[in-house]
Amino acid sequence: MRVLRGRVFYRGRVEPLDVGVDEAGKIAAIRKVIAGEEVEDHGDRLILPGGVDLHVHFRDPGLTEKEDFPSGTRSAALGGVTTVADMPNTRPPVTTRDALREKEARVRGRAAVDYALYAAPRTGASVPELSEAAAFKVYMAESTGGLQVGEGALGEILEAAAPRKKLVVAHAEDARRFQKDEAATLAGHSRARPKESEVDAIRTLAKLRGDGPVHVAHVTCVEALDAVPEGVTTEATPHHLLLDHTRPLKAFGKVNPPLRSPEDRQALWDAFAAGRIDIVATDHAPHTREEKEEPFGEAPSGLPGVATSLPLLLRQVRAETLSLERFVDATAARPAEILGVPKGRIEVGRDADLIVIDAREVVRITPRRVRYKCGWTPFEGMEGVFPRTVYLRGERVVEDGEPIAEGLGRRLSGNEA
Ligand code: DOR
Ligand code: ZN
Repeated sequence: MRVLRGRVFYRGRVEPLDVGVDEAGKIAAIRKVIAGEEVEDHGDRLILPGGVDLHVHFRDPGLTEKEDFPSGTRSAALGGVTTVADMPNTRPPVTTRDALREKEARVRGRAAVDYALYAAPRTGASVPELSEAAAFKVYMAESTGGLQVGEGALGEILEAAAPRKKLVVAHAEDARRFQKDEAATLAGHSRARPKESEVDAIRTLAKLRGDGPVHVAHVTCVEALDAVPEGVTTEATPHHLLLDHTRPLKAFGKVNPPLRSPEDRQALWDAFAAGRIDIVATDHAPHTREEKEEPFGEAPSGLPGVATSLPLLLRQVRAETLSLERFVDATAARPAEILGVPKGRIEVGRDADLIVIDAREVVRITPRRVRYKCGWTPFEGMEGVFPRTVYLRGERVVEDGEPIAEGLGRRLSGNEA
């Protein structure tokens, strides 16, 4: 057994502990002192569970000028995310069993962290053939990829997914509320796809949901949260929590659903910090600089964020605007639970996916730091705390903040823990 020593987040508090890791990369013991062969002593640094990001777009296959599995998972690792769930709006889209199997074969052995794959059923009838996907994504309005489904199909998909206990993640915007807005600004984009479109879509979802697990992606405002029925889980992105439509980002801040006003952002943050939102997920959705430099109306929507989510939020923990418990819950424990993977907590029997943090090491975020293939980040210039060391099932994948191992990531089937 190998032993990792440090100040460990265990059962809701931080204490100096030894974490024993077995050959299979599982946590085998947690004690004050484990007399092991090899001790890796992290001193007074914090040891936390690795992040679980349920919403990334790694663009592989078909859109790999924006990102690919090796680059996306490398950025995830250096930001402390050890599990990702990848969205189906690739080219071809993951709407059939063949497309899912091809994607699976293509990404195998090329991921630096563990991963789950989504499929996007377009009809209730396609649900059984997509059962190998870890979870389903449904788009209730057009965003990148043209995978939206109407109410009839949505109802059928929810009904077919429920007995399989398959998680259905909804992109909840109702296009009937969209408006033309020619302002060519982020505020205009928010008016064009207003908060009411989210509220209406969530109401539709509440009406159709049945009794399977349903999750609402990227909630941007408290009004949307208020419409979420009991038992449906929610996520917020770091960009909706930390950026608003007054930032001078131009189309580099264009995303669906849009960045909202400073007041909406603050209210969303308060709800998140108070525990009203289950998880943080990044909706990491890179586009190239050239695409984002097109005239505002033509530029595609989507922002990269997988490497900066934990660092930005750890900065908030250090500033005491977010509790460490809430941080761990939202970035690791709850998303692992929602997807059903044996991760997200430092507990005997779980995978030893761990990050080592020194909260004094605050750095400025730069495109170089995050290593995205697209070469930009909307959080440039903001402060973050990046992990020094990252373990994936007990193996070091990041050392001194640099990715050092590739290809160790394994596929997760979901619904297993
Ligand atoms: O802004 C967005 N970009 N929203 C989405 O729903 C999709 C994403 C993308 O894939 O680019
Ligand atoms: Zn997305």
